[in-house]
Amino acid sequence: MTTSRIPGFYNLPLEERLDTLAEAAGLTQEELAAFRTPNGLPDDQADHMVENAVGTFGLPLGIGLNFLVNGSEVLVPMVIEEPSVIAGASFMAKLARTGGGFHAETSAPEMIGQMQVLDVPDLMSASLKLYDHRDELLAEADAVDPVLKKFGGGARDLEVRIIEDSPIGAFLVVHLIYDVRDAMGANAVNTACERLAPRLEQITGGRVHLKILSNLADRRLAKARCTIPLKELKIAGRDIISSYTGEQVRDGVIAAWAFAAVDPYRAATHNKGIMNGVDAVVIATGNDWRAIEAGAHAYAARSGRYASLSTWGRDADGNLTGELEMPMAVGIVGGATRVHPAAKAALKLMGAKTASELAGIIVSVGLAQNLAALRALATEGIQRGHMSLHARQVAIAAGATGDMIEKVAAQMVTEKTVRIDRAEEILKKLNPSER
Ligand code: MEV
Repeated sequence: MTTSRIPGFYNLPLEERLDTLAEAAGLTQEELAAFRTPNGLPDDQADHMVENAVGTFGLPLGIGLNFLVNGSEVLVPMVIEEPSVIAGASFMAKLARTGGGFHAETSAPEMIGQMQVLDVPDLMSASLKLYDHRDELLAEADAVDPVLKKFGGGARDLEVRIIEDSPIGAFLVVHLIYDVRDAMGANAVNTACERLAPRLEQITGGRVHLKILSNLADRRLAKARCTIPLKELKIAGRDIISSYTGEQVRDGVIAAWAFAAVDPYRAATHNKGIMNGVDAVVIATGNDWRAIEAGAHAYAARSGRYASLSTWGRDADGNLTGELEMPMAVGIVGGATRVHPAAKAALKLMGAKTASELAGIIVSVGLAQNLAALRALATEGIQRGHMSLHARQVAIAAGATGDMIEKVAAQMVTEKTVRIDRAEEILKKLNPSER
């Protein structure tokens, strides 16, 4: 990939966008054909993926532009139904690249498998015995997935927790820490937990009840940082009311973040904005977005109070600095990532060679998305930016097709009235035969 900056991409017809993408990313038209309906996911493949399949469900797939992550240019596939998300992320990535782009890092890809042990006669002595058998248990778990082992993954550690008080009384929880390398890891971890259960019962004298991965993947974190030069933050509006200095935007973003840092009502919305970007890439790559959502929100509440996943501040030169850290259990092997044709093409487009690289890109998109929302909220508000794309959807809902969509939408935006009844009236006036 030479560059993720493709000026004018937005204005190209869809076919030409695909041609441009093929050229920029070195993908063939056949590979990109997976992005087109109905090739994204053929019916017979859908039939093998879920029970009672009757078809597939389409969502828009767009490209996040301008991303520079750890010095690499990345074109980011994003699947989302909400207008403004892809434009917002791309615009913020453009600002961020003037400050060196995004710097991402990830921890080891370690997942946690949980085993709940009930009816243990002596909790303390059972825990000590489990630690005595630690090496033997890890060796047994390690043997579960020879492929993961070959690539350097496998069982890493065992942790024992005594739950003193629960609605059913005390019990033991055993955590198996498992390095899953480039997989999401649920299958390997669940299998390893099931394999260990009989031995755990022998050692503890108890009964292993649940054996399942935890979605609070707080040992598999991804972190992205960016610096936005102060001068890039300036907004030159039509008049003094719609213009903002770089300092005003920077301080406005920081004040908006401070709200989310202390108030769960605001933090939920703030984090939802982050997830707009995160989920869009997670879905495009065929990963489990419910797992990512669960991990994100549980992590956001780790202090005991639900709070912002990101942090915004200023550096010594007065530039805006941002950081986002969250669990990122995504894979590039197994699951839908390798069987869904569009997910395969999406991974190829991004050039992510490892799950860790993918995680770094995703968390960068989350940070960009967060900034897009805070910058808009701290200045002109969210509605203005949303209005033109929203207006197009309303125009379509009112029955506009072809050129009429833009015409009806443009008039509603000019009138600052984006409503279906108004769209129908405009449509009738512009094209009486259509209604
Ligand atoms: C809307 O999808 C997301 C926002 O509400 C996020 C935020 O408020 O930070 C705009």
